[in-house]
Amino acid sequence: MTETTDITIRHPDDWHLHLRDGDMLKAVLPFTARRFARAIVMPNLDPPVTTAAAAEAYRDRITAALPADASFTPLMTCYLTDDADAGDIVDGFATGIFTAVKLFPAGATTNSAYGVTDMGKVLGVLERMASAGMPLLVHGEATDPGVDVFDREAVFIDRTLAPLLDRLPGLKVVFEHITTSDAVDFVLSRGDNLAATVTVHHLTINRNALFEAGINPHMYCLPVAKREPHRLALRKAVTSGSVKFFLGTDSAPHALTAKEAACGCAGIFSAPAALEHYAQVFDEENALDHFEAFASLNGPKFYGLAPNEGQITLTKTAGTVPDNVAVKGGGAVKPFLAGQPLEWAVVD
Ligand code: NCD
Ligand code: ZN
Repeated sequence: MTETTDITIRHPDDWHLHLRDGDMLKAVLPFTARRFARAIVMPNLDPPVTTAAAAEAYRDRITAALPADASFTPLMTCYLTDDADAGDIVDGFATGIFTAVKLFPAGATTNSAYGVTDMGKVLGVLERMASAGMPLLVHGEATDPGVDVFDREAVFIDRTLAPLLDRLPGLKVVFEHITTSDAVDFVLSRGDNLAATVTVHHLTINRNALFEAGINPHMYCLPVAKREPHRLALRKAVTSGSVKFFLGTDSAPHALTAKEAACGCAGIFSAPAALEHYAQVFDEENALDHFEAFASLNGPKFYGLAPNEGQITLTKTAGTVPDNVAVKGGGAVKPFLAGQPLEWAVVD
């Protein structure tokens, strides 16, 4: 068999992305806009994006920060709170401002303090969303401090996600950035209304990476990377050809000083080489024939959107992940696997 050295796919989308705001937004946005046609933009700013008006204003700031030659569409989300306004949310969906709603259980991750404290409080909103066909995007981790950090996803499935889907079988749900074989099995066990995004870092590293030659804050994200068998289950799921899994980087930039600190922030900034790293995973699994579905087709299908018209070509050519990305004002962000070799490149 001859080795594949080129692959051309429909222009991909990123179905889970943190863009931040201000100077950080300006620094990180070009990396996503040069590779992806659309992205689901997470609303966990501080304060979070909880209204259609705030989402519209944020969308305008993103569009204004785009490089002149970029063709990129941000798809906005609403941060769900205990006192969310169901009318504003479904109206925002009907008018195209919102694409989805994001559930951060309170205390689960970065800027989740405003998140949902009790699912009972948002059932009314979720019922309206189910009727409207509006997707719920879930950060699936139990927040009970008694639960071991490595078990939080599995416990969330049992305590929160399974009961929610049983109660509202018509609700479309994306289980975001799944990290365990438990999540893979759960997604496969349910109907078409449940899908999942998988990040490139969870396909690439296991939890050992956090402790290799000393503690490594740049490998720390939430949900935290798990044991090797979980990584292998994720690789099998995304390369299987199942329509239930699609690309979502969860690229989550934090200033270098906020990562390399006594209490380092959770989040891995993968945008600078995410597509190249995903291609490498599919290549290593001999599954490049399933790469287009994962990167460019399954996501739009789930969201009821058309796939992008354009195409992008990747080629097996050596490169290097940038060391640092400068942020105006003197700061910097460190990409995932900064300075490390790349096996695939995008033909620009
Ligand atoms: C995200 C962030 O920094 O906003 N961090 C992360 O580790 N993934 C929040 C999130 O998606 O959990
Ligand atoms: Zn995220």
